[in-house]
Amino acid sequence: MSESDSAALAIDVHALPRHVAIIMDGNGRWARQRGLPRIEGHRKGAESVREVVRAARAIGIPVLTLFAFSEQNWDRPRDEVDALMELLYRYVLDEREEILGNDIRLAAVGELERLPLLVREALGVLMKLSSARQSMVLCLALSYGGREDLARATRSIAERVRQGTLQPEQIDEALVGSYLATAGLPPVDLLIRTSGEMRLSNFLLWELAYAELLFTSTMWPDFRKPDLLAAVAEFQSRERRYGRTSAQLRPPAADAGGS
Ligand code: IPE
Ligand code: IPE
Ligand code: MG
Repeated sequence: MSESDSAALAIDVHALPRHVAIIMDGNGRWARQRGLPRIEGHRKGAESVREVVRAARAIGIPVLTLFAFSEQNWDRPRDEVDALMELLYRYVLDEREEILGNDIRLAAVGELERLPLLVREALGVLMKLSSARQSMVLCLALSYGGREDLARATRSIAERVRQGTLQPEQIDEALVGSYLATAGLPPVDLLIRTSGEMRLSNFLLWELAYAELLFTSTMWPDFRKPDLLAAVAEFQSRERRYGRTSAQLRPPAADAGGS
């Protein structure tokens, strides 16, 4: 990122979150507040996606996962689901140059087979084209549910045990993680949810175990680059103790105090 961005917010580029995940919420309310149909909120929200992806890449965040459509969102009215799928399709087509040109690898987690064929194909093409890109991973959570993913992983593990290629004693955290859709990605360091809701809504349940949680009342269509920078600055001000004490994390200097 530019010197001015990092200086303005005092972001330490050596202590960036390795994985930022965002629950992009509030498109509908953003629209309603303006007397617009919900889809206008989703449309505006797609602009935030563009800006935030670009900003994350500029800052140097290695992995960005965006919750774009949950397994539970299939239960919304048919016309809203159709409009969201159309927007997703357009996004994948329109962002092709942006993603490839910026050395971004596109990934996706969720029950992708439930997506309309056109969307699935467009997604597959860009994922393949970008598969060797290395500067950032942009992971879209589509038709995604954390519990569903854990259940699916458990079925796969059970199947291997049944086949005799895996012993129950071999099932540890690393193995479970390797069966999740996010296998290969680092654990989430920073979770952001917009729109003031303070819940996880079935997002990345396992992967968020030690994430720093940041809730903002800003609606997703209003969440832009300065908001992402502010979130990273807030992340860097937190002390992550992982069960230890503060003193353990910051041992006194060797020459401090006598014995
Ligand atoms: C987030 O905004 C987008 C999706 C869930 C697809 P919402 O559509 O949930 O907006 P609100 O929560 O109704 O305001
Ligand atoms: C979570 O938002 C899903 C996405 C942002 C894609 P929702 O708006 O669907 O969540 P709830 O229904 O308020 O929990
Ligand atoms: Mg919502």
